[in-house]
Amino acid sequence: MIKKETIEKVLDAARIEEVVGDFVDLKKRGTSLIGNCPFHNEKTPSFHVSVNKGIYKCFGCGAGGDSLKFIMEHEKYAYPEAIRYLANKYHIPVEEIERSPAQMAAQDKRESLYVLNQWASKYFKEQMWETDMGKSIGLSYFHERGYRDDIIKKFDLGYSPEAWTALVDEATKSGFAKEYLTEIGLAVERDDKSLYDRFRGRVMFPIHNLTGRVIGFGGRTLKKDKNVPKYVNSPESEIYHKSNVLYGLHLAKKAIIDHDLCFLVEGYADVLSTHQAGVEHVVSSSGTSLTTGQIKLISRYTKNVVILYDGDEAGIKASLRGTDMLLGEGLNVKVLLFPDGNDPDSYIQKFGASEFRNYVEHNQEDFVFYKTNILLRDAKEDPIKRAEVIREVVESIALIPDEIKVSVYIRQCSSLLDIEERILLSELNKIRLNKARAIEKKESQQAPDMPPPQGADDWFPAEMLAAMGAEAPSMEPVKVESAEQRMEKELVRILLNYGRELVVWEGDGDVPVAPYLLANLDDVEIVDPTCQIIVQEFSKQAENFQVPEAKFFFAHENQEVAALAVDSLVNKYEISPNWNDDKRKIYVPEEIEQLKMLVNQLIYRIKKNKIEVQMRTIQEELKITQNDDDLQILLAKYQKLKEGEQLLGQLLGNIIVK
Ligand code: UTP
Ligand code: MN
Repeated sequence: MIKKETIEKVLDAARIEEVVGDFVDLKKRGTSLIGNCPFHNEKTPSFHVSVNKGIYKCFGCGAGGDSLKFIMEHEKYAYPEAIRYLANKYHIPVEEIERSPAQMAAQDKRESLYVLNQWASKYFKEQMWETDMGKSIGLSYFHERGYRDDIIKKFDLGYSPEAWTALVDEATKSGFAKEYLTEIGLAVERDDKSLYDRFRGRVMFPIHNLTGRVIGFGGRTLKKDKNVPKYVNSPESEIYHKSNVLYGLHLAKKAIIDHDLCFLVEGYADVLSTHQAGVEHVVSSSGTSLTTGQIKLISRYTKNVVILYDGDEAGIKASLRGTDMLLGEGLNVKVLLFPDGNDPDSYIQKFGASEFRNYVEHNQEDFVFYKTNILLRDAKEDPIKRAEVIREVVESIALIPDEIKVSVYIRQCSSLLDIEERILLSELNKIRLNKARAIEKKESQQAPDMPPPQGADDWFPAEMLAAMGAEAPSMEPVKVESAEQRMEKELVRILLNYGRELVVWEGDGDVPVAPYLLANLDDVEIVDPTCQIIVQEFSKQAENFQVPEAKFFFAHENQEVAALAVDSLVNKYEISPNWNDDKRKIYVPEEIEQLKMLVNQLIYRIKKNKIEVQMRTIQEELKITQNDDDLQILLAKYQKLKEGEQLLGQLLGNIIVK
């Protein structure tokens, strides 16, 4: 039997548009997707998919359901098979319930902890709503802060009486084991092994997991005394892992999907108030800085995050680094600042719900620009501080996985910082290189036997190295650059090493490698600034039927150009030492064949990569386009590119198998 947790995970991960999209060609139409029904024959589409609701419905034959139902119907699978299919699709390991006695005990223990927490949550609620003390102390506190009863109930808020053993006594009476009470942190053990309540005299905020089960508590003091901690929280336990929990997510996930947006706030109070103001796509990291686990949780539902900071500048600066992590996970991050030290909670209580929604609507700012601006404001005209600002901003940009976004940010920050794009780009490359080196170092420390990465070796497919008589690297060396950069460097390497080599090309007669390459790549823009300088020089000289010699670049005024030229020549000998020994004689006739293959492969790879970049841009555009005409144009463009990409893929395949 498959575990309930696995099933929950699978159903949580399944996106209807992806599940159905594997079988049905879906097109966007208004708020839903539409396609030809796979369950009956039809020429005009009547099969609708609602991404928000996670369901499909055919208005022709009446078929309908969720992701799981679709797979069961379409693939004729029974329930467990369909779960396995989806688990496989979303890379979720399937856990089975065949358990050893020890596992069974552990499972039972987890279940007991859940049950205990559920019981405690109910107990705290009863204490608040049904006892005189609870009403006059706990409930009235929430009322004074302006929370409505429906919100207090929605979040299962409660009250823990001001007594040493109120909960311990009640729990013991109900038969809960002592060790579970301490393990889950509802009670604390004294030296003499007696127990006392952890949350004495506090108002209680239960913390739920995604499926709505209570996994922990935060208890707020009602005292003004600064020496008393404001919140006491449940400790980590087998069912509560703080780094993987976001407060309010179980109530927010649907709204997050609907708005394709998540607001991130600091505290429990902020989540309550925003809900009360009718804004439900809100979660809280509960005062700690964000973890990758929490970010991954958000990114299951949306890629768009707005961070609602309170206006305290010191606090904001401290949180800039934490926010960088969101960029690293590929999220689009905006920030929103409240005036005069207000947080979302106090702002709403002061100005009301509609003013809050209005404020949120109009005051969001892109995180990278925001960070740039506040750092700049600090640095003023101090050149050293400004240099530091540039580095910090580029560090943030360097985290963004999407190359297109990176280039947009570089361009815009270049004007914000009033500094040439070129300089930002070289800073960016430096940061990336350092990072890659750090990873490389770490990995080589872990695997001391690994051969050091050797120049261009990593770029060649093993088959080709074998064909060239070189040994394929035993392990894939660490990639330090983007695919694009590596290809451009390879282009430069071939130009410098073999540019003057005469080759007989099918259809083109005999032409040296350099003009052949340039002619075939004349529609391709070189992005790496160093490679660009070298390629441009080759183009310039080609106009006079010349091919520059490598040593022309050795003394180039641009240091990076000179260094790349030297590296390119060195790599020639590093990649195939066999070329210098006796084997050379045997390989001579093949050598030119290999070169031809190498050059053609490079052309195809560069073109394919450029097409893939364009396809990704269109995919992004497709996501945001509402207009039907634009949609058709984009889809047509995409189809064209796809065909080109496939053709190049075939050409590449032919070369490699040869
Ligand atoms: P806040 O001080 O902003 O709390 O801390 P809040 O929720 O807005 O509470 P009010 O408005 O003062 O009543 C933000 C979050 O940091 C955590 C809590 O999760 C809180 O919601 N925190 C704060 C603690 O865990 N312990 C503390 O002592 C303080
Ligand atoms: Mn607060």
